[in-house]
Amino acid sequence: MGLVTGACFAKLGNKVICVDDDIPKVEGLKRGALPFYEPGLEEMVHRNMKQSNLSFTTSVEEGTKASDIIFIAVGTPQKPNGEADLTSVEGVSRRIAKAMAEYKLIVEKSTVPVKTGSWIKRTIYLSNLHKVDFDVASNPEFLREGSAIEDFMKPDRIVIGVETERAADILVELYRSLNAPIMITSIETAELIKHASNSFLALKISYINAIANICERVGADVTKVAEGMGYDRRIGREFLDAGAGYGGYCFPKDLSAFIKVAEEVGYDFELLKVIQRINNFQRQQIVEKAKNALWNLKDKTIGILGLAFKPNTDDMREAPSIDIIRQLQQEGVQIKAYDPQAMKNAGRILHNIEYCPSPYEAAKDSDALIIVTEWEEFKNLDLLRIKQLLKQPVIVDSRNVFAPAKIKALGFSYIGVGR
Ligand code: UDX
Repeated sequence: MGLVTGACFAKLGNKVICVDDDIPKVEGLKRGALPFYEPGLEEMVHRNMKQSNLSFTTSVEEGTKASDIIFIAVGTPQKPNGEADLTSVEGVSRRIAKAMAEYKLIVEKSTVPVKTGSWIKRTIYLSNLHKVDFDVASNPEFLREGSAIEDFMKPDRIVIGVETERAADILVELYRSLNAPIMITSIETAELIKHASNSFLALKISYINAIANICERVGADVTKVAEGMGYDRRIGREFLDAGAGYGGYCFPKDLSAFIKVAEEVGYDFELLKVIQRINNFQRQQIVEKAKNALWNLKDKTIGILGLAFKPNTDDMREAPSIDIIRQLQQEGVQIKAYDPQAMKNAGRILHNIEYCPSPYEAAKDSDALIIVTEWEEFKNLDLLRIKQLLKQPVIVDSRNVFAPAKIKALGFSYIGVGR
């Protein structure tokens, strides 16, 4: 998020300095090597480095001194109890405060629990060595991995949480050229908008997954139910794709953090807990489907297509593939896997797997294929070739990539989600 935001602000004509403590990462970036895959980002970073709009350093002091606006985009990982760990936010706030020699606007961009803004303000106030003026703001990001640049450049809305007109003016000016609706609120409201939005999207996913489970039991098609619901503008079709459930760095962590936020203010946000339960159940269902199709799983081989938590990223954090593969391995299944981008990252998490150079290699001599991530290239597979390579023509399609009638006509035993 930090790098995408930095590169995009540079593209809009600002001078951007990206600061990180991770020396190898910063050294790599100075040479133009990106630490992760995001469509279009590498080119954008290179171009803006060449135009001297974008630079990298490990020095918070250097970054602070040279900047008018400072975005805090550090990680807010999940503690074992579900709370967001704000140690990095606090640490970096203190370092910024010590380095400030004139007015600065410090903006929280990371997803943080409500009230973090006032903690940042207090921390900066206490470490403000030169007693300079400053403002704190909240400007949550709504970027999706895989389409982060587009989401930045064409946002549905820009949310600015501020306490002063000066801070509001600076941020409105910064975003002016994007011509997007800008909403100015208090810092607490802006912080809540982010958690409320992500939880609501997760709710839509779990809701349609619950409907998918009903569809399977009554012979209805969840993709049509979603379409029918989606025509209602009050509901909308987006985020109603049933499947293996949500993963990634944001939804699972944000839901847990939001449950904790509610708990701390004395409200039991039960609905969020049910969203999580449905999501976990959904992953287990995929293994159950493989079991129902193959009878005994022990000593069978299964090809997994797609490992990343969603297409167009190499991110494996909280990917449904991790749970699915581990459960299958516990049942004694040999795993062959293919992903266009995420195999390197997957290799660090998932062991005893044969990582394959193509989907066809993953299918070869396997008893079934499970589609876990809906990469575009899977939609165009030569299915007859796949059928010849598989030991048994079984496909569990956990993202409803294929049209059931078409694939059944080719002689596959096909199991989707909710259809
Ligand atoms: C999300 C939010 O969309 C974004 O606004 C926020 O800033 C960060 O978190 P991201 O995690 O990158 O973005 O991906 P997203 O496209 O939201 O998908 C999250 C997960 O939900 C993925 O695992 C995806 O496969 C799953 N999903 C999404 C579904 O299962 N069904 C859907 O209909 C949509």
